[in-house]
Order: sequence, then structure tokens, then C-alpha cells
Amino acid sequence: MSLVPLLALGFLTACPGGKEEPKEIVIGEYGSLTGTAATFGLSTKEGIELATDEENDVTNNGGGIAGVQIRVVVEDDQSKPEEAATAVNKILSSDRPVAVLGEVSSSRSLAAAPLLQRASVPMISPSSTNEKVTLVGDYIFRVCFIDPFQGEAIAKFAYGDKGLRKVAILEDVKNDYSVGLAKVFTENFTAMGGEIVGQEAYSEGDFDFKAQLTNLIAKQPEAMILTGYYTEVGLIARQARELGFQGLFLGGDGWDSEKLVENGKDAIVGGFYTSHYSVDDPEPVVQDFIKKYEAKFHKKPDGLAALGYDAAKILYMAMDDVAKDPKMAAAFADRSSTPAGDATRLAARAALRDRLAIVKDYPGVTGNITIDKDRNAEKPAVVVEVTKEGPKFVSKISPKGTAPIAPPVDPAAPADPAAPVDPAAAPAPVDPTAPATPAPATAP
Ligand code: PHE
Repeated sequence: MSLVPLLALGFLTACPGGKEEPKEIVIGEYGSLTGTAATFGLSTKEGIELATDEENDVTNNGGGIAGVQIRVVVEDDQSKPEEAATAVNKILSSDRPVAVLGEVSSSRSLAAAPLLQRASVPMISPSSTNEKVTLVGDYIFRVCFIDPFQGEAIAKFAYGDKGLRKVAILEDVKNDYSVGLAKVFTENFTAMGGEIVGQEAYSEGDFDFKAQLTNLIAKQPEAMILTGYYTEVGLIARQARELGFQGLFLGGDGWDSEKLVENGKDAIVGGFYTSHYSVDDPEPVVQDFIKKYEAKFHKKPDGLAALGYDAAKILYMAMDDVAKDPKMAAAFADRSSTPAGDATRLAARAALRDRLAIVKDYPGVTGNITIDKDRNAEKPAVVVEVTKEGPKFVSKISPKGTAPIAPPVDPAAPADPAAPVDPAAAPAPVDPTAPATPAPATAP
């Protein structure tokens, strides 16, 4: 059957009260729109909005999925895991979504994923990196790399690029991501020959870290590894400097927020963290995304916005594909509460899950995305430096088995091929797993 007759009779649908309502496809989204990690949820929401606008645009194959417009229902979880579960329950019971996008934070994804798995509703986390998230079940996906890789990338950068040998760790024990990242960092850094001279803990929402910092500084670490999120990281950096600490700060993607420097001021400038993408990347898919995002939101997108965009784009691509079967297309748009409707919707969501599981080489803004057998995406990480003007690209670290990718060329940067080497640092050891350093370019 062709789509034409279906569309012709399909723009209106009967609802329980008998009145006709416009047909639409509902996607859920839950995220931290307020609270300690608000920039995560807000940026992600913007990325998803941009992707949804593009999918709904009538010049794009008539707009929407098989001609039916998408509506994204967003619930705020206030940056709290308990509220994440509440938000998802609400979306499930009142909105009958085809799929759900979220969360950023691993702890909040872990709180809500079991509900979506039980309901057989596909969930795509744009950016939860803790390994456990997708292990919840076969309906749970992500489009980002995972912390065993991210922790290794930070360790390689610390030991190899910065020549660090003695570091201290400060972790947020309320945050699965922070604890997991500290653990994999430690495994990798010590296996390379480095030493963790001290480790302390705090809880999200704390704002006095002086006791822990005093203990750590007494151990004379060359650097502190801060595996939490930007709000606390900014405060920690300032208090550490007040207590006289002069070493480096290093961290993971949880630093990715325009508020990092606002909170950490000069103390955090010069720190390094691993991230999912860089605005300096000259790849056309990246620069094209930045242009579109800037036109809509009048600012530069952070990594969260890029990941939100990629997650939604992949979801819509998979839905477009599944909706080539008119029965599936009709099921996506059906929100009636009949047993027959329930059964076809379940079948359509299972087909969507199967399609998501085989995403291969999708050219995302945050790198090429292939979903592996554990529903994770294997992608490179970038290391960026915190500057007053924003994150600055330092290097790209590829997952094992893929060729290292050349650093982007920044036409505005002064020609200084030796820039990454810090003369004050200890001589860089030879890391057999690190990509070879390119020879300094010579002028033609
Ligand atoms: N990776 C973090 C987590 O799992 C969330 C995060 C992703 C934060 C990207 C900032 C940027 O908790």
C-alpha cells in the first residue's frame, strides 16, 4: 500500500471522547532544566529542538515522520534522580511516547531507565557515560562514548601529555558518573605507573570543600582530578587555590558548561577536560551544526547541545526508516487506548528498538556513530583547555582499533607547532598506546 491514501485519510484521529484531534507523534524528553546541573538539560533541550525543527520542516520529505509532525513533551527533573523517575512516569502515563530522550546525568538515567525498559519504550541518552546505563536492558541506548574509555583518555593525557606522576582525586559520591570515572582513571593511571597520593569525597550540593582539600594538598599532588559536575568543580578549584594549591586541575565531560568559568573564575582557567566535540573542529557537519544553532539560539553550542541534536537526529532517522511500513507509521501516530492500538504500538516500538540497535556510521556532529552490541557508541573524545573565551581544542583521542584523527587546523591560531609541550612539566614518558606525536611542521 502506498503512503498516499494513508496520509489522505490520516491527518485526524479519533480520541476517546469521540472528538477529532490533530495527528501527531509524541516523543518524551526528561532533563535537568533547573537545579545544580541546569545548563546540561537546557543545552540538550536546545539541541533536540533544532533536530525536531529540521525533521518537522515541510521541505524535508513533507515534514515529520511519514508526514505526521513530531511533538516533544519535556519534563524537568530538577537535577534530581528521584524526580527523573517521577518525570518519566508522568510522560509514560499521560503522553504515550514512541520513544524518550534523556537524561544527561548517568545517575538520573539509571533512575528512570528501568521504567522505560519495563514499558518497552526505547530511550536514548545523549550523554550518560557510566557503563551501567545501557546494561539496564535492550530498549536503552546512548549516542556517546562510555567512561572506561573517557577515564583512559584522561589518564593518557595526564600521564603522557602532561607528564604527571602523583595526582589526587576528589569525587562526588552521590554521582554514579563521578565515582565510576574516578575508578577507571585510577586503574589506567596506576597501570601506566602513576600514583594516586590521596582521594576524598563530597556530595552534590556541598559548597565547602576545605577539609577534603587540606588533606589532599598535604599529600603534595601535582594535579587534582575532579570527576564531578561544573557547579562543584568551580567552587573546588577556587577553594583549592585559596588554600595555596598551584597544580593542575583535570576532569571529564561533567565540566562542560558555560557556568564553569563563572563559578571557578581564574582558578579553573588552564584546567583540562575530556569532551564530546569541539567548536574548533573544521568538519563540515560540525561547522554546519554550529551555524544553524547560532542562527536559532544566538550563542555557541556546547557538547550537550551537540549530543542532544545527534540523539534526536538518530531517533528520527530510525523512525523514518521504520515508518516506511505504513502500519508502523500509523502506530507511531496512534495514541488511542484500545487493546489493538496497544499491541500495534508495542510492535512499532520493538521495530524501532531493532532499528536503533543497528545504527552504523551515522555522521554525527559528535563523531561517527555506530551502536555496538551493548547499545553504546564508540567515538573519539577530545581534550579541551578551559580559557576565559571558552573551551579550546587540545587533542583528539580515538578509541582502540581506530586510527588517530589529525587535530583540526585552526586558521586563526599562531603557527606554533611545539605549543602543547609544557617546558615546566617532567619529560613526557613514552606511552606505547598513545598516537605518535606529529613532527613539527617546517615552513615550505
Ligand atoms: N557524562 C556525564 C554523566 O554521565 C554527563 C555529561 C555529559 C555532562 C556531557 C556534561 C557533558 O553523568
